[in-house]
Amino acid sequence: MSSGIAFVNGRYVFKKEAMVNVEDRGYQFADGVYEVIAVSNSRLIDLDAHLDRLSRSLAELEIAWPLKRRVLVLIFSKLIKRNNLKDGNIYLQISRGVANRNHSFPKTRVRPSLVITVSKFGRPSDKKFREGVKVVTMQENRWSRPDIKSIALLPNVLAKEFAYKKDSFETWFLDVDQTITEGSSTNAWIVHPKGEIVTRELGTKILGGITRARMVELARSAGMFVTEKPFSLQDALSAEEAFITSTTSLVMPVIEIDGKTIGSGRPGPVALKLKKLYEEFCIKGGVK
Ligand SMILES: Cc1ncc(COP(=O)(O)O)c(C=O)c1O
Repeated sequence: MSSGIAFVNGRYVFKKEAMVNVEDRGYQFADGVYEVIAVSNSRLIDLDAHLDRLSRSLAELEIAWPLKRRVLVLIFSKLIKRNNLKDGNIYLQISRGVANRNHSFPKTRVRPSLVITVSKFGRPSDKKFREGVKVVTMQENRWSRPDIKSIALLPNVLAKEFAYKKDSFETWFLDVDQTITEGSSTNAWIVHPKGEIVTRELGTKILGGITRARMVELARSAGMFVTEKPFSLQDALSAEEAFITSTTSLVMPVIEIDGKTIGSGRPGPVALKLKKLYEEFCIKGGVK
């Protein structure tokens, strides 16, 4: 459920009254980037990592920061207070700004547009976490830089809808070599029968999920064996467990891929343990 007060280009406004210019390049070309940051007990989880990723996305697209990083953090705090947000998400979008429609970058200085909204209760149901979810696969059809958190999400939107129509929670993209890259809005993980936990390595083929990074760190600190490398659909189908991670789905067990049951068909011990570790991390305020 989205919440009342947003921050739009320098002003706090009621979200239902908030407006963007029709010439905004985010609206015209999807020329912008975004972040989704979890709020737990009114605290922002892994804030620095999100802002570092934002900084990288902006730099890759040559979009300037619309304001100083510490000012952005102050605005987040204000929005959390004004919306009385305890648990939910902050959504932030920065576009290249407003200019006459023309594909190339504006040649005069344009101020990047900034929109921040908050939402409450953005998480999947307890039932899904208890029972696990189904995943389907489709051929990778995104651009070659999904490591940039761009707002150009049409292939991801279509992939999520594909999952929905197949009564599934997520679609995993299959690269040309039949390895899984990631989900439409989540990172993909499997657990091999001998306990090795595998998720694809960072690079240009996946978005470097903040939850993924935190999970790698939490799992290794707990003595679990994590390898960052590609895995194939075949590996996934014969895995002991599978799961997905993201800011909004946390650690979600996967019990079926393309109609084939994974492991016991129930959420596995590794996914459950990681979810617990992550929840404990969030309860502590998410700061290390
Ligand atoms: C394509 C994609 N991969 C992975 C993720 C997970 O990233 P994070 O853990 O930072 O939410 C997302 C989240 O939006 C995503 O869109």
